[in-house]
Amino acid sequence: METLVHPGSGEIALEEKPQTKVKTMKALVYHGPGKKSWEDKPLPTIKAATDAVVKILKTTICGTDLHIMKGDVPEVADGRIIGHEGVGIVEEVGTGVTNFKKGDHVIISCITSCGKCDYCKKGMYSHCEDGGWILGHLIDGTQTEYVRIPHADNSLYPIPAGADEEALVMLSDILPTGFECGVLNGQVKPGDTVAIVGAGPIGLAALLTAQFYSPAEVILIDMDDNRLSVAKTFGATQTINSGLVNAIEAIKSLTNGKGVDVAIEAVGVPATFELCQEIIAPGGHIANIGVHGKSVTLHLEKLWAQNITITTRLVDTVTTPLLLKTVQSKKLEPNNLITHHFRLDQIMEAYDTFGNAAKERALKVILTN
Ligand SMILES: NC(=O)c1ccc[n+]([C@@H]2O[C@H](COP(=O)([O-])OP(=O)(O)OC[C@H]3O[C@@H](n4cnc5c(N)ncnc54)[C@H](O)[C@@H]3O)[C@@H](O)[C@H]2O)c1
Ligand SMILES: [Zn+2]
Ligand SMILES: [Zn+2]
Repeated sequence: METLVHPGSGEIALEEKPQTKVKTMKALVYHGPGKKSWEDKPLPTIKAATDAVVKILKTTICGTDLHIMKGDVPEVADGRIIGHEGVGIVEEVGTGVTNFKKGDHVIISCITSCGKCDYCKKGMYSHCEDGGWILGHLIDGTQTEYVRIPHADNSLYPIPAGADEEALVMLSDILPTGFECGVLNGQVKPGDTVAIVGAGPIGLAALLTAQFYSPAEVILIDMDDNRLSVAKTFGATQTINSGLVNAIEAIKSLTNGKGVDVAIEAVGVPATFELCQEIIAPGGHIANIGVHGKSVTLHLEKLWAQNITITTRLVDTVTTPLLLKTVQSKKLEPNNLITHHFRLDQIMEAYDTFGNAAKERALKVILTN
Protein backbone atom coordinates (compact mmCIF):
# COMPACT_ATOMS: atom_id res chain seq x y z
CA MET A 1 0.00 0.00 0.00
CA GLU A 2 1.37 3.43 -0.96
CA THR A 3 0.22 6.90 0.05
CA LEU A 4 1.51 9.78 -2.01
CA VAL A 5 1.85 13.05 -0.12
CA HIS A 6 3.32 15.95 -2.02
CA PRO A 7 2.48 19.41 -0.71
CA GLY A 8 4.51 21.61 -3.08
CA SER A 9 8.14 20.74 -2.61
CA GLY A 10 7.25 18.11 -0.05
CA GLU A 11 7.97 14.47 -0.13
CA ILE A 12 6.40 11.31 -1.42
CA ALA A 13 6.14 8.88 1.50
CA LEU A 14 5.95 5.28 0.50
CA GLU A 15 4.32 3.58 3.48
CA GLU A 16 6.16 0.32 3.25
CA LYS A 17 8.70 -1.26 5.50
CA PRO A 18 11.39 -0.05 5.59
CA GLN A 19 9.82 3.36 4.88
CA THR A 20 11.47 5.23 1.98
CA LYS A 21 10.92 8.91 1.27
CA VAL A 22 11.57 10.41 -2.15
CA LYS A 23 11.96 14.16 -1.80
CA THR A 24 10.24 16.07 -4.57
CA MET A 25 10.19 19.54 -6.02
CA LYS A 26 8.11 21.36 -8.62
CA ALA A 27 9.53 21.72 -12.13
CA LEU A 28 8.61 22.91 -15.62
CA VAL A 29 8.74 19.73 -17.67
CA TYR A 30 8.77 19.34 -21.47
CA HIS A 31 6.50 16.59 -22.81
CA GLY A 32 6.99 16.90 -26.57
CA PRO A 33 6.12 19.75 -28.96
CA GLY A 34 3.52 22.12 -27.50
CA LYS A 35 3.26 20.19 -24.22
CA LYS A 36 4.65 21.29 -20.89
CA SER A 37 3.54 20.96 -17.28
CA TRP A 38 4.41 22.20 -13.80
CA GLU A 39 4.78 18.95 -11.93
CA ASP A 40 6.53 17.00 -9.18
CA LYS A 41 10.02 15.68 -9.91
CA PRO A 42 12.53 14.02 -7.57
CA LEU A 43 15.12 16.33 -6.05
CA PRO A 44 18.45 16.09 -7.89
CA THR A 45 21.36 14.41 -6.15
CA ILE A 46 25.14 14.47 -6.58
CA LYS A 47 26.07 11.92 -9.25
CA ALA A 48 29.76 12.74 -9.78
CA ALA A 49 32.36 14.14 -7.37
CA THR A 50 32.54 17.30 -9.49
CA ASP A 51 28.77 18.02 -9.24
CA ALA A 52 26.96 20.58 -7.12
CA VAL A 53 23.25 20.82 -6.35
CA VAL A 54 22.04 24.43 -6.40
CA LYS A 55 18.81 25.77 -4.93
CA ILE A 56 17.34 28.16 -7.51
CA LEU A 57 16.61 31.68 -6.27
CA LYS A 58 15.79 33.31 -9.60
CA THR A 59 15.48 32.00 -13.12
CA THR A 60 14.12 33.18 -16.47
CA ILE A 61 12.83 32.01 -19.85
CA CYS A 62 14.95 32.25 -23.01
CA GLY A 63 13.86 32.46 -26.66
CA THR A 64 15.61 29.11 -27.01
CA ASP A 65 13.12 27.58 -24.52
CA LEU A 66 10.32 28.69 -26.85
CA HIS A 67 12.17 26.94 -29.72
CA ILE A 68 12.32 23.80 -27.56
CA MET A 69 8.60 24.05 -26.80
CA LYS A 70 7.85 24.28 -30.52
CA GLY A 71 9.82 21.08 -31.10
CA ASP A 72 12.70 22.82 -32.91
CA VAL A 73 15.30 21.14 -30.68
CA PRO A 74 14.43 17.45 -31.14
CA GLU A 75 17.19 16.10 -28.90
CA VAL A 76 15.32 17.43 -25.83
CA ALA A 77 13.69 14.35 -24.33
CA ASP A 78 10.12 13.96 -23.06
CA GLY A 79 10.28 14.51 -19.29
CA ARG A 80 13.19 16.98 -19.39
CA ILE A 81 13.17 19.95 -16.97
CA ILE A 82 14.10 22.92 -19.15
CA GLY A 83 15.80 26.29 -18.47
CA HIS A 84 19.49 27.21 -18.64
CA GLU A 85 19.69 30.51 -16.77
CA GLY A 86 19.53 31.46 -13.10
CA VAL A 87 21.13 32.36 -9.81
CA GLY A 88 20.98 30.29 -6.64
CA ILE A 89 22.54 29.01 -3.43
CA VAL A 90 24.78 25.96 -3.35
CA GLU A 91 22.92 23.25 -1.44
CA GLU A 92 25.44 20.43 -1.65
CA VAL A 93 28.78 19.77 -3.37
CA GLY A 94 30.54 16.58 -4.45
CA THR A 95 33.89 15.68 -2.87
CA GLY A 96 35.80 16.94 -5.92
CA VAL A 97 34.38 20.50 -5.84
CA THR A 98 36.92 22.92 -4.37
CA ASN A 99 35.74 26.40 -5.45
CA PHE A 100 32.28 26.28 -3.83
CA LYS A 101 30.64 25.14 -0.60
CA LYS A 102 27.10 24.89 0.78
CA GLY A 103 25.57 28.33 1.20
CA ASP A 104 27.55 30.11 -1.56
CA HIS A 105 25.52 32.38 -3.85
CA VAL A 106 26.24 31.60 -7.51
CA ILE A 107 25.45 32.47 -11.12
CA ILE A 108 24.65 29.36 -13.13
CA SER A 109 26.24 29.49 -16.57
CA CYS A 110 24.18 28.20 -19.49
CA ILE A 111 27.37 26.42 -20.59
CA THR A 112 28.81 23.52 -18.59
CA SER A 113 32.59 23.15 -18.89
CA CYS A 114 35.12 20.77 -17.39
CA GLY A 115 37.97 23.28 -17.71
CA LYS A 116 40.36 20.47 -18.66
CA CYS A 117 39.65 19.21 -22.19
CA ASP A 118 41.31 20.63 -25.33
CA TYR A 119 38.34 22.90 -26.12
CA CYS A 120 38.10 24.23 -22.56
CA LYS A 121 41.86 24.91 -22.59
CA LYS A 122 41.26 27.09 -25.68
CA GLY A 123 38.46 28.95 -23.86
CA MET A 124 35.92 27.29 -26.14
CA TYR A 125 33.71 26.07 -23.30
CA SER A 126 30.73 25.71 -25.63
CA HIS A 127 32.45 22.70 -27.18
CA CYS A 128 33.61 21.11 -23.90
CA GLU A 129 33.99 17.37 -24.45
CA ASP A 130 31.98 16.70 -21.27
CA GLY A 131 29.68 19.72 -21.30
CA GLY A 132 28.77 22.60 -23.60
CA TRP A 133 25.10 23.57 -23.76
CA ILE A 134 23.57 20.61 -21.91
CA LEU A 135 21.56 22.33 -19.15
CA GLY A 136 17.83 22.26 -19.86
CA HIS A 137 18.73 20.51 -23.11
CA LEU A 138 20.41 17.15 -22.54
CA ILE A 139 20.22 17.21 -18.71
CA ASP A 140 17.61 18.73 -16.37
CA GLY A 141 17.71 22.52 -16.18
CA THR A 142 16.91 25.51 -14.02
CA GLN A 143 13.14 26.15 -14.27
CA THR A 144 12.61 24.36 -10.97
CA GLU A 145 13.60 24.51 -7.29
CA TYR A 146 16.91 22.61 -7.36
CA VAL A 147 19.33 21.78 -10.17
CA ARG A 148 22.37 19.53 -10.48
CA ILE A 149 25.33 21.32 -12.04
CA PRO A 150 28.12 19.09 -13.42
CA HIS A 151 31.70 20.41 -13.31
CA ALA A 152 30.55 22.95 -10.74
CA ASP A 153 34.02 24.49 -10.24
CA ASN A 154 34.05 25.81 -13.81
CA SER A 155 30.31 26.14 -14.54
CA LEU A 156 29.26 28.31 -11.58
CA TYR A 157 30.43 31.85 -10.81
CA PRO A 158 30.47 33.35 -7.29
CA ILE A 159 28.13 36.29 -6.64
CA PRO A 160 29.79 39.11 -4.69
CA ALA A 161 28.05 40.16 -1.47
CA GLY A 162 25.46 42.88 -1.97
CA ALA A 163 25.10 42.34 -5.74
CA ASP A 164 21.74 42.74 -7.50
CA GLU A 165 21.08 39.04 -8.05
CA GLU A 166 18.17 39.66 -10.41
CA ALA A 167 20.43 41.59 -12.79
CA LEU A 168 22.98 38.77 -12.65
CA VAL A 169 20.48 36.32 -14.16
CA MET A 170 21.32 38.16 -17.41
CA LEU A 171 24.90 36.86 -17.07
CA SER A 172 23.88 33.20 -17.44
CA ASP A 173 23.34 33.53 -21.18
CA ILE A 174 22.21 36.73 -22.89
CA LEU A 175 25.01 39.16 -21.98
CA PRO A 176 27.88 36.78 -22.77
CA THR A 177 26.06 35.78 -25.98
CA GLY A 178 25.58 39.36 -27.24
CA PHE A 179 29.12 40.26 -26.20
CA GLU A 180 31.07 37.18 -27.36
CA CYS A 181 29.18 36.18 -30.51
CA GLY A 182 28.27 39.75 -31.56
CA VAL A 183 30.68 42.38 -30.22
CA LEU A 184 33.93 40.43 -29.79
CA ASN A 185 33.56 38.34 -32.94
CA GLY A 186 32.44 41.46 -34.84
CA GLN A 187 35.57 43.28 -33.56
CA VAL A 188 33.70 46.49 -32.76
CA LYS A 189 36.20 49.37 -32.56
CA PRO A 190 36.09 53.05 -31.53
CA GLY A 191 34.45 55.10 -34.28
CA ASP A 192 32.83 52.12 -36.00
CA THR A 193 29.36 52.16 -37.48
CA VAL A 194 27.59 49.06 -36.18
CA ALA A 195 24.24 47.64 -37.28
CA ILE A 196 22.47 45.12 -35.04
CA VAL A 197 19.69 43.21 -36.77
CA GLY A 198 17.19 42.04 -34.13
CA ALA A 199 16.31 44.00 -30.96
CA GLY A 200 15.37 41.03 -28.79
CA PRO A 201 17.21 40.42 -25.49
CA ILE A 202 20.27 39.17 -27.39
CA GLY A 203 20.42 42.10 -29.84
CA LEU A 204 19.95 44.49 -26.92
CA ALA A 205 22.73 42.72 -24.98
CA ALA A 206 24.98 43.27 -28.02
CA LEU A 207 23.92 46.93 -28.07
CA LEU A 208 24.77 47.39 -24.37
CA THR A 209 28.16 45.69 -24.60
CA ALA A 210 29.15 47.23 -27.98
CA GLN A 211 29.29 50.55 -26.15
CA PHE A 212 32.37 49.36 -24.17
CA TYR A 213 34.26 50.13 -27.41
CA SER A 214 32.80 53.56 -28.23
CA PRO A 215 31.41 52.91 -31.71
CA ALA A 216 30.34 56.15 -33.44
CA GLU A 217 26.95 54.78 -34.51
CA VAL A 218 24.88 51.78 -33.42
CA ILE A 219 21.86 51.25 -35.64
CA LEU A 220 19.19 48.80 -34.47
CA ILE A 221 16.97 47.09 -37.04
CA ASP A 222 13.77 45.24 -36.07
CA MET A 223 10.09 45.14 -36.98
CA ASP A 224 8.84 45.76 -33.42
CA ASP A 225 8.54 49.48 -32.63
CA ASN A 226 8.41 48.85 -28.89
CA ARG A 227 11.75 47.03 -28.93
CA LEU A 228 13.23 49.74 -31.15
CA SER A 229 12.15 52.41 -28.67
CA VAL A 230 13.77 50.39 -25.85
CA ALA A 231 16.91 50.23 -28.00
CA LYS A 232 16.97 54.04 -28.18
CA THR A 233 16.98 54.24 -24.37
CA PHE A 234 19.84 51.69 -24.34
CA GLY A 235 22.04 53.85 -26.57
CA ALA A 236 21.06 53.06 -30.18
CA THR A 237 21.89 56.15 -32.24
CA GLN A 238 19.40 55.23 -35.00
CA THR A 239 16.63 52.67 -35.37
CA ILE A 240 15.09 51.22 -38.53
CA ASN A 241 11.75 49.40 -38.66
CA SER A 242 12.47 46.97 -41.50
CA GLY A 243 8.77 46.08 -41.67
CA LEU A 244 7.96 49.63 -42.71
CA VAL A 245 10.99 50.86 -44.69
CA ASN A 246 13.63 49.29 -46.93
CA ALA A 247 16.43 48.64 -44.42
CA ILE A 248 19.15 48.40 -47.09
CA GLU A 249 18.31 51.83 -48.48
CA ALA A 250 17.96 53.28 -44.97
CA ILE A 251 21.45 52.03 -44.02
CA LYS A 252 22.96 53.31 -47.28
CA SER A 253 21.49 56.74 -46.68
CA LEU A 254 22.74 56.80 -43.07
CA THR A 255 26.28 55.79 -44.14
CA ASN A 256 26.82 57.86 -47.31
CA GLY A 257 26.32 54.74 -49.39
CA LYS A 258 29.20 52.88 -47.69
CA GLY A 259 27.44 50.42 -45.41
CA VAL A 260 28.44 49.45 -41.87
CA ASP A 261 31.74 48.31 -40.39
CA VAL A 262 30.08 45.63 -38.27
CA ALA A 263 26.75 43.88 -38.92
CA ILE A 264 25.53 41.72 -36.03
CA GLU A 265 22.81 39.19 -36.89
CA ALA A 266 20.63 38.54 -33.81
CA VAL A 267 17.49 36.97 -35.27
CA GLY A 268 18.32 33.64 -36.95
CA VAL A 269 16.35 33.71 -40.22
CA PRO A 270 17.67 33.81 -43.82
CA ALA A 271 16.31 37.33 -44.51
CA THR A 272 18.31 38.93 -41.71
CA PHE A 273 21.60 37.23 -42.58
CA GLU A 274 21.09 38.28 -46.21
CA LEU A 275 20.43 41.83 -45.00
CA CYS A 276 23.80 41.78 -43.20
CA GLN A 277 25.48 40.80 -46.49
CA GLU A 278 23.80 43.74 -48.24
CA ILE A 279 24.76 46.40 -45.70
CA ILE A 280 28.36 45.43 -44.90
CA ALA A 281 31.08 47.91 -45.96
CA PRO A 282 34.37 46.78 -47.52
CA GLY A 283 36.63 45.42 -44.77
CA GLY A 284 33.63 44.86 -42.49
CA HIS A 285 32.71 42.05 -40.11
CA ILE A 286 29.45 40.10 -40.17
CA ALA A 287 29.00 38.45 -36.77
CA ASN A 288 26.25 35.87 -36.71
CA ILE A 289 24.53 35.18 -33.38
CA GLY A 290 21.16 33.79 -34.51
CA VAL A 291 20.37 30.08 -34.36
CA HIS A 292 19.53 29.17 -37.96
CA GLY A 293 17.18 26.34 -38.86
CA LYS A 294 17.27 26.96 -42.63
CA SER A 295 20.14 27.34 -45.10
CA VAL A 296 21.06 30.87 -46.18
CA THR A 297 22.50 32.01 -49.51
CA LEU A 298 26.09 33.27 -49.27
CA HIS A 299 26.58 35.97 -51.93
CA LEU A 300 30.24 35.33 -52.70
CA GLU A 301 29.62 36.68 -56.22
CA LYS A 302 29.34 40.11 -54.54
CA LEU A 303 31.45 39.67 -51.44
CA TRP A 304 34.56 37.86 -52.69
CA ALA A 305 36.46 41.12 -53.31
CA GLN A 306 35.06 43.05 -50.30
CA ASN A 307 37.63 41.92 -47.68
CA ILE A 308 34.89 40.98 -45.25
CA THR A 309 34.99 38.53 -42.36
CA ILE A 310 32.03 36.33 -41.40
CA THR A 311 32.01 34.71 -37.96
CA THR A 312 29.79 32.18 -36.20
CA ARG A 313 29.88 31.17 -32.54
CA LEU A 314 28.05 29.29 -29.84
CA VAL A 315 28.40 31.34 -26.65
CA ASP A 316 31.31 30.16 -24.50
CA THR A 317 30.51 32.27 -21.38
CA VAL A 318 34.26 32.84 -20.93
CA THR A 319 33.53 36.56 -20.47
CA THR A 320 31.13 36.08 -17.55
CA PRO A 321 33.74 37.16 -14.91
CA LEU A 322 34.61 40.38 -16.75
CA LEU A 323 30.94 41.15 -17.45
CA LEU A 324 30.22 40.64 -13.75
CA LYS A 325 32.81 43.33 -12.93
CA THR A 326 31.17 45.76 -15.36
CA VAL A 327 27.77 45.11 -13.74
CA GLN A 328 29.29 45.64 -10.27
CA SER A 329 30.76 48.97 -11.36
CA LYS A 330 27.45 49.94 -13.05
CA LYS A 331 29.10 50.32 -16.47
CA LEU A 332 26.49 47.78 -17.49
CA GLU A 333 22.95 47.79 -16.03
CA PRO A 334 21.32 44.60 -17.27
CA ASN A 335 18.31 44.91 -14.95
CA ASN A 336 16.93 47.32 -17.57
CA LEU A 337 16.25 44.22 -19.69
CA ILE A 338 13.81 42.87 -17.08
CA THR A 339 10.19 43.73 -17.88
CA HIS A 340 8.11 41.22 -15.88
CA HIS A 341 8.23 39.43 -12.51
CA PHE A 342 6.49 36.20 -11.48
CA ARG A 343 6.72 33.66 -8.68
CA LEU A 344 8.29 30.42 -9.86
CA ASP A 345 4.94 28.63 -9.44
CA GLN A 346 3.38 31.11 -11.93
CA ILE A 347 5.72 29.88 -14.67
CA MET A 348 2.92 28.77 -17.02
CA GLU A 349 1.62 32.36 -16.98
CA ALA A 350 5.16 33.64 -17.48
CA TYR A 351 5.49 31.45 -20.60
CA ASP A 352 2.28 32.97 -21.98
CA THR A 353 3.62 36.49 -21.40
CA PHE A 354 7.07 35.76 -22.85
CA GLY A 355 5.55 33.83 -25.76
CA ASN A 356 3.55 36.96 -26.71
CA ALA A 357 6.51 39.31 -26.30
CA ALA A 358 5.41 41.96 -28.81
CA LYS A 359 1.88 42.27 -27.39
CA GLU A 360 3.04 42.06 -23.76
CA ARG A 361 6.07 44.31 -24.37
CA ALA A 362 8.20 41.62 -22.76
CA LEU A 363 11.98 41.34 -22.81
CA LYS A 364 13.18 39.23 -19.87
CA VAL A 365 10.87 37.80 -17.21
CA ILE A 366 12.19 36.99 -13.73
CA LEU A 367 10.81 34.00 -11.83
CA THR A 368 11.51 34.00 -8.09
CA ASN A 369 11.55 30.76 -6.11
N1 LIG B 1 24.88 31.80 -30.82
C1 LIG B 1 24.46 31.56 -29.60
O1 LIG B 1 25.19 31.01 -28.76
C2 LIG B 1 23.09 31.97 -29.15
C3 LIG B 1 22.78 31.99 -27.77
C4 LIG B 1 21.49 32.42 -27.39
C5 LIG B 1 20.56 32.79 -28.35
N2 LIG B 1 20.90 32.73 -29.69
C6 LIG B 1 19.96 33.13 -30.76
O2 LIG B 1 19.97 34.53 -30.88
C7 LIG B 1 18.77 34.94 -31.57
C8 LIG B 1 18.12 36.11 -30.86
O3 LIG B 1 17.67 35.71 -29.57
P1 LIG B 1 16.56 36.55 -28.77
O4 LIG B 1 16.31 35.83 -27.48
O5 LIG B 1 16.94 37.99 -28.74
O6 LIG B 1 15.31 36.33 -29.76
P2 LIG B 1 13.93 37.10 -29.91
O7 LIG B 1 13.06 36.20 -30.70
O8 LIG B 1 13.45 37.61 -28.58
O9 LIG B 1 14.33 38.40 -30.77
C9 LIG B 1 14.45 38.39 -32.15
C10 LIG B 1 14.04 39.77 -32.66
O10 LIG B 1 14.13 39.73 -34.07
C11 LIG B 1 13.06 40.45 -34.64
N3 LIG B 1 12.84 39.97 -36.00
C12 LIG B 1 12.26 38.82 -36.39
N4 LIG B 1 12.28 38.71 -37.73
C13 LIG B 1 12.89 39.83 -38.20
C14 LIG B 1 13.20 40.32 -39.50
N5 LIG B 1 12.89 39.61 -40.62
N6 LIG B 1 13.83 41.50 -39.61
C15 LIG B 1 14.15 42.23 -38.50
N7 LIG B 1 13.88 41.81 -37.23
C16 LIG B 1 13.25 40.63 -37.10
C17 LIG B 1 11.89 40.21 -33.70
O11 LIG B 1 10.92 41.25 -33.78
C18 LIG B 1 12.60 40.17 -32.32
O12 LIG B 1 12.59 41.44 -31.69
C19 LIG B 1 17.89 33.67 -31.64
O13 LIG B 1 18.05 33.07 -32.91
C20 LIG B 1 18.50 32.81 -30.55
O14 LIG B 1 18.18 31.44 -30.72
C21 LIG B 1 22.14 32.34 -30.09
ZN1 LIG C 1 19.27 30.99 -23.77
ZN1 LIG D 1 35.94 20.70 -21.24
